[in-house]
Amino acid sequence: MIAGLALLVFLGWSWWQSRLPGSYDVMAYGAVDDGGGQPIAHHHFSVAALTGPTGKPDYSLTLTAEKAPVRLASGQNVKAWTFNGSAPGPEIRVRKGQLVQVTLVNKDIGEGVTIHWHGLDVPNAEDGVAGVTQNAVEEGGRYVYRFRPEQVGTFWYHTHQDASHGVKQGLYGALVVEPKKKPRGLDLALPVHTFAGHTAIGTHDDVWRRRVPAGTPVRLRLINTDSSAARFRFSGMPSVVAIDGAGITPTPLLPDEEIEIGAGGRYDVALPMPNGVASVSVVNSRAALVLSPDGTGDPPETKSGPVFDPGTRSTGSTGYAQAKFDRTFDLTISQKIGFLNGKPGRHWALNGKLYPNVPMFEVAKGDLVRINLNNDSSSVHPMHLHGHHVIVLTHDGKPVSPWSTDTLLMLPHDRYSVAFRANNPGLWMLHCHNLKHAADGLTMHLMYAGVTTPYRAGKSAHNDPE
Ligand code: C2O
Ligand code: CU
Repeated sequence: MIAGLALLVFLGWSWWQSRLPGSYDVMAYGAVDDGGGQPIAHHHFSVAALTGPTGKPDYSLTLTAEKAPVRLASGQNVKAWTFNGSAPGPEIRVRKGQLVQVTLVNKDIGEGVTIHWHGLDVPNAEDGVAGVTQNAVEEGGRYVYRFRPEQVGTFWYHTHQDASHGVKQGLYGALVVEPKKKPRGLDLALPVHTFAGHTAIGTHDDVWRRRVPAGTPVRLRLINTDSSAARFRFSGMPSVVAIDGAGITPTPLLPDEEIEIGAGGRYDVALPMPNGVASVSVVNSRAALVLSPDGTGDPPETKSGPVFDPGTRSTGSTGYAQAKFDRTFDLTISQKIGFLNGKPGRHWALNGKLYPNVPMFEVAKGDLVRINLNNDSSSVHPMHLHGHHVIVLTHDGKPVSPWSTDTLLMLPHDRYSVAFRANNPGLWMLHCHNLKHAADGLTMHLMYAGVTTPYRAGKSAHNDPE
């Protein structure tokens, strides 16, 4: 009887204290982990001061978030949330070093909108995370983003306010940074998205055919904007040339070899256009792109093959083999029974703790940082660190051929070690890009010592990054 009462009191207390206030600092509950490094002197600085460059933009664009129907190639109409009336939103294609200015206007998205530049290491105040680096833009509001991309490659942009809902509804688009001297040939950014159950490349939810003269250099930039991994099959003998916006030594795919891209990830493939069909198909869907000199043809019947593993190919990227790390963090993802914001259930836990009592990794500018990631769950977690790209060092304890990534696909029970140079001060999210998982608490922050944010997350603050 007494034990029963005590349990009830304990449960009541656990429930009560798990509820998030209407407005809170995301740093208020985290447990600071310094990764075993040198103590850090704290000079306080605010996220809000870490803005992009001033001056006259080389490229400017206004993106208006608005509800609009989107017509898929099959004729299907879906209700969507769009940028400038389309989903995917307009492709942003800029050149390295240009000053880019994007003005976000929210016409009628009651939930609010922001724009996050996924994979681009922009200054922190331009990172677009509601309640962390800015307030969500409410209906009728606007926000100006400015940055100068120094990375060349394939990225994407998406809302980071209520992202699990907003991205699914269509608030995303492709972002390509070209080298200063643009290579010739056909270059297509291919954001893949599932609209109301219809998987599409762009808006093509069936076979999309394009006429391409034989011999044309072709580059295809595959972007997975969904919350689950997507698999791709090819014909025409492409090579993998980039992963997550970072070039690799061109690596020909083996016959039947497939590419699996985790949620949020990108792969670029390239090929010289053959005198026949070259194609890419999204496995388990009707969506495919067929290129041929006469604009006809079908994706060939191919059988399922092995999945491309960058860790076993020579990607040409140099790791931090002999490096001495300034800090080493461990991050274990598991599930735990408890209350998450008042909701009882089995929730994602980071180092055994439920959001918001998750670890915060503290670094100093210049640190070489290692993170040992451990997926101690039977689910897939594409882990995304904002503002940095990491080099993969080991997989399941064994050294790999290092490659650079910003969204690491972790299969059930995978263990990886990654490393990065802390060279972009601020407060950065580290979360699962299965955005449902993130909304269910699989999210935490990397903080530079001394950083503060004037923004607040929570219902009454109208900021909910996930
Ligand atoms: Cu593409 Cu924090 O997200
Ligand atoms: Cu996950």
